Amino acid sequence: MRTVVFTVLCVLCIPFFLLGLFAFMLPLMFSRGVVSGTTYEPFNSRYQYELLGLRADPAARLLARSLPATNLIVRVCVFHLLTLLCRITGLIPPALSYPPSDLGDLKSMVAMRTHFIDKKLQAFSAENGQILILGAGWDTRGYGNTFRKGMPVYEVDTPATQTVKKRAVNSSGLEQDAVTFVPCDFETEQWLEKLIAAGFEPDRPTFVIWEGVTMYLSERTIHDTLQQISQFATGSQIVFDFLPEGWWRDEKAGRAATSSIRITYGEKFNFFLRLGADAEATLTELLSSHDLNLISSCIQRLPNNQAKPFYGIVLAENQA
Ligand SMILES: C[S@@+](CC[C@H](N)C(=O)[O-])C[C@H]1O[C@@H](n2cnc3c(N)ncnc32)[C@H](O)[C@@H]1O
Repeated sequence: MRTVVFTVLCVLCIPFFLLGLFAFMLPLMFSRGVVSGTTYEPFNSRYQYELLGLRADPAARLLARSLPATNLIVRVCVFHLLTLLCRITGLIPPALSYPPSDLGDLKSMVAMRTHFIDKKLQAFSAENGQILILGAGWDTRGYGNTFRKGMPVYEVDTPATQTVKKRAVNSSGLEQDAVTFVPCDFETEQWLEKLIAAGFEPDRPTFVIWEGVTMYLSERTIHDTLQQISQFATGSQIVFDFLPEGWWRDEKAGRAATSSIRITYGEKFNFFLRLGADAEATLTELLSSHDLNLISSCIQRLPNNQAKPFYGIVLAENQA
């Protein structure tokens, strides 16, 4: 019954959602191909979890007020309206649920990876530790002390995307003392050199978050990055996610999802990981070729396609 009421209310609200969609897409059109648009995808989900009281992220609430595409119209016509519908009906649909209610579902991908990373970061208890976020986008874990447990945070992203983030952080009034911004394009520049020049110390235990990024990079950059992280202090950890080749290249739904990202944001998926029949063995082999140990992984499959996983996330650690 709740689902029916929720659906009917959503249908009645379609004009507001369309207005919100227009107000969201408009700023993106002006920065298409320069500033990352896909970084709104995970941010929007985390902002919605915060509004629904499912995952505390007060920094996301503040940052949303200052980012170009989560402007007032979008916040009111989409995010707050959805929150209101959830409150009226007492229903949180699976696409907005956190922690993820259904692991085998494309819609729960962001919830799943956010949950995985939050838990691993919480468990990271190295003395004198630090956090490095590669391809940080609108990640808010560095602001306030909800996630970073007093550790300093380094954020790396392309100069254009980082400029927008810095402007938004400044005007939002977010506490940013712990964050060092390092502008760098992974494909054309040496991110580690730039980090070290900005004060990063690779011999301190580091928790590296590389979330929602590998799919946009070249295979060479991915291998180089893992190799460089293996030079960090023993006990450093990296969490990263990837798209398995079988589902994204061969399946109609995978190709459609790839096209929809390209059409909506003008961004292209470049890297898909070829997983063997034994996914854990493939990951272990990949990581050990870079002197990293597989600590844990989560491989997602759709209920109607168990043979080809559609998503994977990994936690690896530096070997002694
Ligand atoms: C989908 S967003 C994910 C953002 C953030 N990690 C999160 O999960 O909220 C991908 C991010 O990777 C960054 N990125 C993609 N290619 C990059 C490159 N060649 N160099 C630096 N950053 C890159 C984008 O600018 C964007 O912020």
